[in-house]
Amino acid sequence: MKLPEPNFDGGFAVEAALRARRSVRDYGEAPLSLAEVSQLLWAAQGVNAPEGYRTAPSAGALYPLEIHLVAGNVESLSAGVYKYAPRRHKLRRTSEGDLRARVSAIALHQEWIAESAAILVFAAVVERATRKYKQRGRRYILLETGHAAQNVLLQAAALDLGAAVVGAFDDGELKKAIGMSRDEAAVYILTIGHQRR
Ligand SMILES: Cc1cc2nc3c(=O)[nH]c(=O)nc-3n(C[C@H](O)[C@H](O)[C@H](O)COP(=O)(O)O)c2cc1C
Repeated sequence: MKLPEPNFDGGFAVEAALRARRSVRDYGEAPLSLAEVSQLLWAAQGVNAPEGYRTAPSAGALYPLEIHLVAGNVESLSAGVYKYAPRRHKLRRTSEGDLRARVSAIALHQEWIAESAAILVFAAVVERATRKYKQRGRRYILLETGHAAQNVLLQAAALDLGAAVVGAFDDGELKKAIGMSRDEAAVYILTIGHQRR
């Protein structure tokens, strides 16, 4: 599915987003729009140059990260797991059904996770980085995930959405639950939704 074009001029200053950013774990019922999802995915790993460079830096421009979207409460998107294709700014559905509660259970039963509208799972094809950088490639993957996740947190703040990161989860169970491919490793979870007010 082709995503709406991202907005390149939202008018919210980066310093205002830095000032507003807070981990939000209390979400309301309002769904995310497809435009919001598009913007958040673009912030994570979108292409911002004809050469294929992305919004987040990557060691050697090898781009080992893969983003899975666990959608539960997103307008015009049936509940399921989707993989983001940065070059074409598209989503490809990889499984059907609402997996938010399952992800919450895998993340040490942090129940608020299931109340978010959608969850991003940052994964990495480790070999893409270690082929060139050997053991140091693993460090680079963690650094790159931090860059990408922070982009999303700031974009969420600029869109007046709530978001939080989660590092506490069972890697193997998460990989199985969302159907990650064999060569991918789970790195980080990021929850998004409208903040309950
Ligand atoms: C690597 C990492 C892992 C984290 N894991 C969790 C988590 O599993 N559950 C959670 O509720 N918050 C998690 N957090 C969020 C922190 O609790 C939060 O950033 C911290 O309390 C500061 O609050 P703030 O983000 O609102 O500034 C994590 C943050 C980082 C950087």
